[in-house]
Amino acid sequence: MSSAAPGLLAIGTGNLYNDIFYLAVFIVLVAVLAAAIAINRALRSMLKVTMPEVVQEEEQAKFKKKTARKTNWQKTWNTFLGLKPIEQEKDLVIDDHEYDGIVELNNPIPVWFNALFYSTVVFSVVYLLIYQVFGWGLNQDQEYAREMAQAEKEKQEFLAQAANSFDENTIEVDETGTLAVNGKAIFAANCAACHGQAGEGTIGPNLTDRYWLHGGEIKDIFHTIKYGVPDKGMVPWEQTLTPAQIAEVSNYILTLRDTNPANPKPAEGEEVKAYESEGGSAEAATEGGEAPADSTAAAN
Ligand code: HEC
Repeated sequence: MSSAAPGLLAIGTGNLYNDIFYLAVFIVLVAVLAAAIAINRALRSMLKVTMPEVVQEEEQAKFKKKTARKTNWQKTWNTFLGLKPIEQEKDLVIDDHEYDGIVELNNPIPVWFNALFYSTVVFSVVYLLIYQVFGWGLNQDQEYAREMAQAEKEKQEFLAQAANSFDENTIEVDETGTLAVNGKAIFAANCAACHGQAGEGTIGPNLTDRYWLHGGEIKDIFHTIKYGVPDKGMVPWEQTLTPAQIAEVSNYILTLRDTNPANPKPAEGEEVKAYESEGGSAEAATEGGEAPADSTAAAN
């Protein structure tokens, strides 16, 4: 099987004797074909010598057929273009339309032009039926409405995505106040139990004063809510609330500052004298405060 060179193996059947056999058959067939062609030629030239009229007739018939086919094709082409043979030109001359020996011909409208014209008529009927009668297709207004609806859907999806794509490092105070408004309900439902309805503090610390265990800037608050302080009873909300909801409730807590509700829980943690939103820097805010009341503050 592998007595053939590897290069030959690639093109052969893999069996050297088979390959030689096929090659031989091929060569024989080519030889037979060549012989048949040679014999045919010889017979024809013999025919030319012995019976010249037969060969001539044959050739004439061939030529006639060819020209007939040509004129047929020419005729169809002329009809298509609306061309008339030059012999018919005198029938086409428009009477009383000669000026200075120049006459005008009334050529018929070419077939291709008529075909184009009638196809537009057919098209208009089909169009009318589809768009106006049966209402299968959308007209411009409907198409516009559909695309706008689609775009609105995509926009909402994008916004939902974007609203959830920030974390404690990227969150900023929402100056418009809309987030805070939405956060109020989240606070009442999830946080008021421990922080009081007004954020005055019960189990959890007072969120309305300027004293914070874990920092009072928006990023700190977001961080505390997201990861919680499990050791001290503050739940991590990462799994329960979406980033957007945490952002909303964080913004809401900022609005509680200095609201002085009834029954406030005493201050815990260190005082933030100047918030970033009030023009202070994060460092200035923690400077001069007492040592953190809670050691987990450092860990967070
Ligand atoms: C099970 C009671 C409980 C619930 C519910 C709770 N908290 Fe707390 N929260 C606490 C406790 C306790 C602390 C204090 C943790 C500490 O001592 O470090 C705290 C601390 C905080 C702090 C940090 C306060 C500071 O001084 O730094 C924020 C902000 C806060 N919670 C927000 C929330 C929000 C928002 C919710 C609702 C989504 C919520 N909490 C729900 C118990 C709770």
